[in-house]
Amino acid sequence: MCGIVGYVGPNLANPVLVEGLRRLEYRGYDSAGIAVMNGNGLETRKAAGKISRLEEELAASPISGNTGIAHTRWATHGAPTQCNAHPHVDCKGHIAVVHNGIIENSSVLRKQLEANGHKFVSETDTETLAHLIEEAFEGSLEDAVIDALQEVEGTYGIAVISSDDPDKIVAARKGSPLLLGIGDNEFYVASDASAILAHTRDVIYLDDGDIAVLDRKGYHVLDERSRRLSRKVSRIDWDLDQIERGGFDHFMLKEIFEQGASIENTMRGRLLDGEGTSKLGGINLSDEELLQFDNVVITACGTSWHSALIGEHMLEEMARIPVEVEYASEFRYRNPIITDRTLCIVISQSGETADTLAAMREAKNRGAFTYGIVNVVGSSIARESDGGIYVHAGPEIGVASTKAFTCQVIALLLFTLKLARLRNLSVVRGREIIEAMRALPAQIRKILDSAPRIEDLAEEFKDSTNFLYLGRGYNFPTALEGALKLKEISYIHAEGYPAAEMKHGPIALIDAEMPVVFITPHDSVFDKVVSNVQEVKARGARVIAITTGEEPALAGKIDYEIRIPPTIEMLIPVLAVVPLQLLAYYIAVKRGANVDQPRNLAKSVTVE
Ligand code: G6P
Repeated sequence: MCGIVGYVGPNLANPVLVEGLRRLEYRGYDSAGIAVMNGNGLETRKAAGKISRLEEELAASPISGNTGIAHTRWATHGAPTQCNAHPHVDCKGHIAVVHNGIIENSSVLRKQLEANGHKFVSETDTETLAHLIEEAFEGSLEDAVIDALQEVEGTYGIAVISSDDPDKIVAARKGSPLLLGIGDNEFYVASDASAILAHTRDVIYLDDGDIAVLDRKGYHVLDERSRRLSRKVSRIDWDLDQIERGGFDHFMLKEIFEQGASIENTMRGRLLDGEGTSKLGGINLSDEELLQFDNVVITACGTSWHSALIGEHMLEEMARIPVEVEYASEFRYRNPIITDRTLCIVISQSGETADTLAAMREAKNRGAFTYGIVNVVGSSIARESDGGIYVHAGPEIGVASTKAFTCQVIALLLFTLKLARLRNLSVVRGREIIEAMRALPAQIRKILDSAPRIEDLAEEFKDSTNFLYLGRGYNFPTALEGALKLKEISYIHAEGYPAAEMKHGPIALIDAEMPVVFITPHDSVFDKVVSNVQEVKARGARVIAITTGEEPALAGKIDYEIRIPPTIEMLIPVLAVVPLQLLAYYIAVKRGANVDQPRNLAKSVTVE
């Protein structure tokens, strides 16, 4: 998704901006650009494609100055061309704007501006902002930005510079994350802390409606009526090397291998072994209040939606409370039954997914208590939810989510333990669950030892054109997640299905060309799944089975086996997903795909 970085200070802006863009690459993008004030005026360079193309442009035609803004764009309005890349400028080329989000009334505004004589060169909604600011400009850039934004409907995080009010950046936020970096007489703006972390750890997370003004002397934040606001400076406590590859070929592989440690972080300080329950600081509800809920709705997108499905099983099984799981994009436009006795759990790695954020706001408007399960600290969902739990997976850079997923499942179980123990879960059962949770990190590391075997398997299957992933109960969501991982990064068509439901359609697809990945742990539905394996094998499919031990019942029915250690039923997805992540990873690498930045995908989808 689009990324913003801006710099004002005594140093050259270019290196800071280009390095910042590189740090934002992981979010996914298809063009990039930069605008710098060179002392006389504004200069802009843009390129379609990767940041290296922008660097080529800059090498061929250098620009230099101490104030600048830069952007990675993920196309929404208009193709990913050089012309549509940001920054966009006004008619005179005096004002440059970078923008994340969508201006919903851009076509109306564009018509009006064109009628007033403005000339547009791109197909983007963002260009309207440059012309609107030009129209409103009377000497003060912040006043012009504030005026222009009055006309705008939609979402934005923007950074603006102007040669008519030089050495200043004006930034504004509504619905798209933006933060300020506070240095020593130098200031930054960025959509994501990783862009500026090499320079400062002191940041201000802007709120919706904030307008920030940065120059060499300092910064201040205004509201929409130009009144000064005070905003807290936060200190970032994670390191850049945490987001560097650490010796792995790709971030995704590093993140898969981090899962032992990351789920330890999710659990740290939160398990009460003796009482068989959890301690959750950010819940913001008393035990009495927690008991008041009649039902739970969980909403999320993508991989987070898969963890929600596992959470549904856990909560219903142990806390005995009705749970519904909804795609956030569907939930927000339905007329869902939500009351003030509904608990709405919102799951998001980034905490910025537009649909999830909107679904949360909708639930809140309808009176629900909203509880965020979020990875990115200070993100919109984390800040706007009524209570919540950080999963503490650490920065996840690979676009395909891996460690966030396993941490989300653990966070859901922590919450389930808390609620279930208040309702009707026995202390003995609570303790058993905690014991199993504590064993997970070592079990994950054991599975990771089998990575070379899974790599061999990937060699065998890398040219397949379709895959089916089947599982039941807690592992139906695991099947969905395994299939999603494969399609996201290898571009092989893959479907996840409940193993028995497969005979109502997908079975028609099965032949000797179709690999079928079965998740067949020795759980309560094992015998049922064995019958499903039989059905598939009888039609010639090549079967890869994830098992938890020696299984005579599977003898002769499977072609390849990946063994994971046994654990309690509800935790099997946390283990079973690891070989599926590795399988997807190695297949994608062998197919030469760009694993960390798969085509068309974005790490954080901040548009609808
Ligand atoms: C994008 C990412 C997925 C992610 C989904 C939800 O589509 O590519 O990997 O699962 O968004 O993101 P969230 O940050 O809300 O968990």
